[in-house]
Amino acid sequence: MEKSSGRNSFTGSIGFVLAAAGSAVGLGNIWRFPYLAAKDGGGLFLVIYIILALTFGFTLLTTEIAIGRKTKQSPLTAYGQIKKGWKGLGILSCLVPIIILPYYCVIGGWVLKYFLVFLTGGGTEAAADGYFTGYIGDPAQPVILMIIFLLLVAFIVFRGVNKGIESSSKLIMPLLLILVVAISVFSLTISFTDAEGITRTGIDGLKVYLIPDFEGMTVKKFFSVLLDAMGQLFFSLSVAMGIMITYGSYVSDDANLVKSINQIEIFDTVVAFLAGVMIIPSVFTFMGSEGMEASGPSLMFISLPKVFSAMGSIGNGIGCLFFAMVLFAALTSAVSVMEAIVSCFMDRFGMSRAKASIIETVISLAAGVIVCLGYNIMYFDVVLPNGSHAQILDIMDYISNNCLMPLVAIGTCILIGWIAKPQIVIDEAEKTGCKFTRRRLYIVMIKYIAPVMLVILLLKSLGILTVI
Ligand code: ALA
Repeated sequence: MEKSSGRNSFTGSIGFVLAAAGSAVGLGNIWRFPYLAAKDGGGLFLVIYIILALTFGFTLLTTEIAIGRKTKQSPLTAYGQIKKGWKGLGILSCLVPIIILPYYCVIGGWVLKYFLVFLTGGGTEAAADGYFTGYIGDPAQPVILMIIFLLLVAFIVFRGVNKGIESSSKLIMPLLLILVVAISVFSLTISFTDAEGITRTGIDGLKVYLIPDFEGMTVKKFFSVLLDAMGQLFFSLSVAMGIMITYGSYVSDDANLVKSINQIEIFDTVVAFLAGVMIIPSVFTFMGSEGMEASGPSLMFISLPKVFSAMGSIGNGIGCLFFAMVLFAALTSAVSVMEAIVSCFMDRFGMSRAKASIIETVISLAAGVIVCLGYNIMYFDVVLPNGSHAQILDIMDYISNNCLMPLVAIGTCILIGWIAKPQIVIDEAEKTGCKFTRRRLYIVMIKYIAPVMLVILLLKSLGILTVI
C-alpha cells in the first residue's frame, strides 16, 4: 500500500489514457450530452462542442495534467508548488470532488438499482408511471444501494493506482466501448408505429440528432448554445475537479503527454457523440419529439425504461445492457473523484492510502445518506439563482458544477496564463521531445479567451448575467 512519499505512477500510457478516459466518460456524457444536443439544434451543438473540445477543453485538460506531472502532487498542494501564495486555489479544487462524490454515489446507486431490476426481468415494472419517484421516495433502499456503490468505488481506490484504478480501467473501458457501439448500432435499426399510425425509425431520430436546426436562431440563442456546450465540457472532461491534476501526477516523466491528451479528448468526445446515437433515435422513435424534452434523471430513469418496455420482448435485455454500460461509466468516474480526494489527504497530511480512503468513505457515506433523505424525510424545494427548482442533490451539483468549478478554472487560467506563464505547461508537455502542436492556440486560450468565457459562464450560472 503506497504512502505519499512513495508516489505510484501508471505503468504506461495506455493505463493513463484509459483511467483518464474512464474518469471523463461518465453520467455527464450519457444523460446530459444527448439532451443538450437535442435541445440546442442537433448538429449545431455538435459542431460547437467539437470546436470547444479542441480549443477550450484541450487547454484546460493540458494545463491540469501538466501541473500534476510537473509537481507530482494532488491539487491541494500542487497549486502552491507552482506559485507560493496560491494554496487557496488548491483548497477550492479539493473541495469540488468532496462535494461531488456523495451525490455521484447516490446516482450510482440508482443506476445499480435499475441494472438489477432489468437483470432480473423487471423492465416493465420499471417503466410504470411513478416507479422512479416511488423508488427515491423510499428512505431505505436508495441508501443501501448508494452504500454498495460507494464501497465498490472505495475498494478500487483502496487497492491503489496500479492494482485498483489502472487494472479496473483496463478491464471496464473496452467493455464499455463495446456496449456503447453495440447499443448505438441497435438504436439505428429500430422502428415503431404509434397509436395514430405514424411510423418513425431510428434513422429519422439520427437525422434529428445530426442535422443542424437553425430555426429561431438569434445571436442570444447562439451564445446560450455556446455556454451550454462549455458547461458540459467541464463536467465531461473532469477538469476543475482536481482529478486531472491527480491523474497527471501519476504519469511518468517519459510519457508523451501531447499524444495521451489527444487520445483522452477523442475518447470522451466519441463516447459523448455515441451516447446521443444510443439515446436520441430510440427516444424519438418510441416517444416522438415530446420524449426529447426529458434530461438528467428523468431521461435516464423515466423515459428510457418506457422506451425499453415499448421495444417488446428484447427490451429487457437491451435495458440490462444499457444500465450495465452506465454503471461502468459511473464507476470509473466516481473512482477518479474519490482518488482526487484521497491523494489530497495523502499528500497534505502524509496519511496512508488505507487511512485516507476510509476517512473519505465515511464522509461520503454520511453526506450520501443526507442526499438520499433529501427525496423523502428531509424533502424541501428551493429555487436556485439560475431559476431551477432544487433538492439537496441539485444544490450540491449547483455549488460544485456551476459555482466552484468555473472559479477553479478561472484561477487556473490566471495562475498559468499570467503569473507562472504558459511556457511552464509547454515545457512540461515537451519534456520528452514531443512537439506541442497547438502551442499558439494554447497561449491565446489560457491567457485571454478561456478566462473571459469562464467569467461569462460563472456570471450566467449565478444568475447575474441575464442577457445571454
Ligand atoms: N466526467 C465525469 C462525467 O461526465 C465526471 O460524469
